[in-house]
Amino acid sequence: MTDQHKYEELAVADLAFDGKAVAYRDGKVIFLDGGLPGERVLAEVVRSRKRYDFATVKEVLQRSSMRIDAPCSHIAECGGCAWQDLSYPQQLIYKRKQVVDCLERIGGLESVKVADAIGSLELFHYRNKMEFSFHASPDGEFTLGLHRRGKFDEIFDLNACWLATDTCNRIVAWVRQFVREEQIPVYDVFTHVGYVRFLVIRESKRTGQVMVNLVTNYGEIPQREKLASGLKAAFPQITTMVHNQNGQKSNIAVGEIEQVVFGTGYIEERLFESTFRIRAGSFFQTNTLQTETLYHTALDMLEPGISDRMLDLYCGTGSIGILASRYVRDVLGVELVADAVKSARENADINHVKNARFIEGDVKDVLALHEREGARFDLVVVDPPRAGMHPTALKRTIQLAPQKLAYVSCNPATFARDAAEIVKAGYRLPEVRPVDMFPHTKHIELIGVFYRS
Ligand SMILES: C[S@@+](CC[C@H](N)C(=O)[O-])C[C@H]1O[C@@H](n2cnc3c(N)ncnc32)[C@H](O)[C@@H]1O
Repeated sequence: MTDQHKYEELAVADLAFDGKAVAYRDGKVIFLDGGLPGERVLAEVVRSRKRYDFATVKEVLQRSSMRIDAPCSHIAECGGCAWQDLSYPQQLIYKRKQVVDCLERIGGLESVKVADAIGSLELFHYRNKMEFSFHASPDGEFTLGLHRRGKFDEIFDLNACWLATDTCNRIVAWVRQFVREEQIPVYDVFTHVGYVRFLVIRESKRTGQVMVNLVTNYGEIPQREKLASGLKAAFPQITTMVHNQNGQKSNIAVGEIEQVVFGTGYIEERLFESTFRIRAGSFFQTNTLQTETLYHTALDMLEPGISDRMLDLYCGTGSIGILASRYVRDVLGVELVADAVKSARENADINHVKNARFIEGDVKDVLALHEREGARFDLVVVDPPRAGMHPTALKRTIQLAPQKLAYVSCNPATFARDAAEIVKAGYRLPEVRPVDMFPHTKHIELIGVFYRS
């Protein structure tokens, strides 16, 4: 059977922040790729450090009652779902625990009440955006799919992702076949030679509109018309296709040059009674139904007043500000990405919102300008990317001295870091509410409202 020197039996004690399981051997921490608390597993140490080891679970010897059978066939290899085999109520418990741990350990904020995590309305097929990578293999073949767990440079051929819709999975299979038949060269991340790089699919949950975005190296798409007409014929739901060219070495699915192949170049999604236009380069929350829960929770905690002036920082396509606009005097949104600002302005127009303005710029620079002009805001909402707020942006936000500051975060660690600064500046943080936007992954979104003391 196994090599007795490499394999060992371990008792899983906990789940760590990044989705890994934790076991101990003679006081040393072992991070496990697999295994659930309470289980006994047979594991192989793959990397050893002075204070901790990394190991892969080869077999579950004693199964936890929290374990369920994951429906996805890619569960063992995919980097997306760390917890698909953990029952959903337990996922929520561990996600809440991550928030508590971060607040205590990173922020030193022991007294903040952390509510139970609000579960997602849909557990599968909830994503409205999926990003797939092409990967050239040395044998001349290629794969189109998602990242292998822990590997930035390995892509497995996707059969079906359970977080994506059936339409999305079928488009992936169709495009893979097209690229193979037409012998379109696949980009190689090591040599930087080749053409097709990413396939990004966005699908509105409420209108059913679908956008296909092909991200390639520089140059026109070979067989562009054949690809466009083939896609339209096979998938009438595809209302628009865009082509983004990215010749940069950095492996990101963002284009320097965008062309609309057919359709409008955007899709429309609905949240509550409002419509939102989303373009290829703009951020939009990826779980549509749960976005309503997130925004509803944020506004419920913020309790906006009709005479309040609101600042919506990191506003994306303007969704939070537009939804809040009916409850406040006016809204100013700030966003770095030009595409998103364009969509935010359009979104205000198509929803007949007259009291919201959106400006393009880096939050820290825009706030410097406001500081000079002595602008006043009663409410500030911040919703930064995973890295949290730039220290200067955070300092300038605090200097605005709003009555209430709502922080929407997709990363409890950076939230805790920033929260400590806000509290140090004299704000109170009574409560944090985690909202699960990403079932089966290790990620958790949260909202905290700070009150000026
Ligand atoms: C997590 S998203 C939130 C978007 C929006 N609030 C929503 O709920 O859809 C973060 C947004 O911040 C923008 N962003 C990132 N860095 C920024 C900066 N330094 N200044 C302004 N916006 C920034 C991103 O482009 C993205 O749209």
